[in-house]
Amino acid sequence: MSQGPDNRRDAAAAAAHPADIEEIELELFVHAMRRRFGYDFSGYATASLRRRVNALCQHAGVGRVVDLLPRLLDESDFLRQALRFLSVPVSELFRDPEVFARLRADFLPELASYPRINIWQAGCAHGEEVYTMAILLKELGLYDRCRIYATDFNDQALDRAREGIFPAAQVPRYTDNYLQSGGQGSLADYYHARYDFIRMDRALLDNVIFANHNLVTDGVFAETHLVMCRNVLIYFARPLQHQVLALFSDSLVRRGLMVLGTRETIARAPVSELFETLDAGARIFRRTARAEV
Ligand SMILES: C[S@@+](CC[C@H](N)C(=O)[O-])C[C@H]1O[C@@H](n2cnc3c(N)ncnc32)[C@H](O)[C@@H]1O
Repeated sequence: MSQGPDNRRDAAAAAAHPADIEEIELELFVHAMRRRFGYDFSGYATASLRRRVNALCQHAGVGRVVDLLPRLLDESDFLRQALRFLSVPVSELFRDPEVFARLRADFLPELASYPRINIWQAGCAHGEEVYTMAILLKELGLYDRCRIYATDFNDQALDRAREGIFPAAQVPRYTDNYLQSGGQGSLADYYHARYDFIRMDRALLDNVIFANHNLVTDGVFAETHLVMCRNVLIYFARPLQHQVLALFSDSLVRRGLMVLGTRETIARAPVSELFETLDAGARIFRRTARAEV
């Protein structure tokens, strides 16, 4: 007896691979995040996104990604929990100190020719890089003419960044980083120690503006002289990386600087020809004078 269309459909459904089902569930999750909250993860790298959504499942006590959907759809504050797992706000003070050593010695002093310097730190997590940059600029005598726009798409991370409280256990590592970056004083000059945490000096935030900004859906920061976005593009698939690099390119003044994470590249991006590489290892680039791609 020949198989009818219904039988064939049933057989295909029965044969569906668990990996396909997982993929469908992940797509449904991404769709729900976008429709319900406007957060678009469709351009993120799938493997790491899946790992983080699975961690969210564990946290939420559900066995399958699809079981997250009622929580996402019905509980308005579930977004905060979801972002906590999806955003990975991991950082440190003077992370990759050789990058800050290069900026300190060779590239930030160039910015002194501008009467006012706009710096955009995108994906600022809990603010470690913001305090790092503020210290660097203070030691170079440039802080007073700077505005640092520190952005992230995670409001909880931004709240933590504003507080500037970090575990005291990290101090030896941070101090080491600071000294390796060419720090001119003592890191202890920039924080107050309290029990098992430190609080960064409030004066470091005098010229800092924290703002929620989503690199996927929000627009440019005009007239930026330095954009720093490290360890964010690694979470994106290539087309989204290229889209975000174009956003940075459009935000920068001619000869503005761009700093990426040490595992991130502009090599194959359409905007790559608009940048010259200043330090390949430290991933420091300069926007050239050309206007068009
Ligand atoms: C690993 S942290 C990087 C922290 C810091 N830049 C560093 O390199 O140490 C990645 C940050 O990117 C943020 N992020 C991820 N996707 C984003 C998006 N679409 N728009 C803005 N921020 C995003 C996350 O919330 C997280 O705080």
